[in-house]
Amino acid sequence: MADFKVLISQEEIETRIKEIANQIDQDYQGKKVTLICILKGAFIFLTDLVRNINKNDIIIEFMAVSSYGNEKRSSGKIKIIKDVDRDLTDEHIIIVEDIVDTGLTIDFLIKYFNNKGVASVKTCSLLDKAVCRKIDVPVDYSGFTIEDRFVIGYGLDLAQEYRNLPYVAEIKED
Ligand code: PRP
Repeated sequence: MADFKVLISQEEIETRIKEIANQIDQDYQGKKVTLICILKGAFIFLTDLVRNINKNDIIIEFMAVSSYGNEKRSSGKIKIIKDVDRDLTDEHIIIVEDIVDTGLTIDFLIKYFNNKGVASVKTCSLLDKAVCRKIDVPVDYSGFTIEDRFVIGYGLDLAQEYRNLPYVAEIKED
């Protein structure tokens, strides 16, 4: 068992997600938007986020990429494990992530979708480890900015475990 403590509570997450969902409702009034959930980490955030979005002309897609493997630090090599199933040409898309750390994954994804001819790309992440950036990337909808801590829960893993914690916790390092 890892030694950890709550960093962001369930209530704080719930409140912030409602705010982000309202913002998306406002920003995409009269426009269809496709939300792309980046697996695995974003699966819980995505499901809570979409249930708080009121507009119904949203499309949900799933994509799986990996940059960490079982390591605690990004390897920088982004691998597409599962691509989206549809042609997204001319669609407005929002990439939904659990965390932006070095920024390498989101940078790769923004370029990837721009090359596919989408109408617009925005990014949404529950957590933003801004101090760890290796490349400047936009996080248009950001839940919480956190320090350089190893976090688990609410979708985030430690060697694939702990994703089911209903809050974000910080691993206590010696
Ligand atoms: C995590 C996270 C992001 C990426 C962020 O994925 O979900 O996709 O790393 O890191 P970066 O900004 O340094 O590129 P991970 O590779 O751990 O896969 P997982 O979501 O399946 O756990």
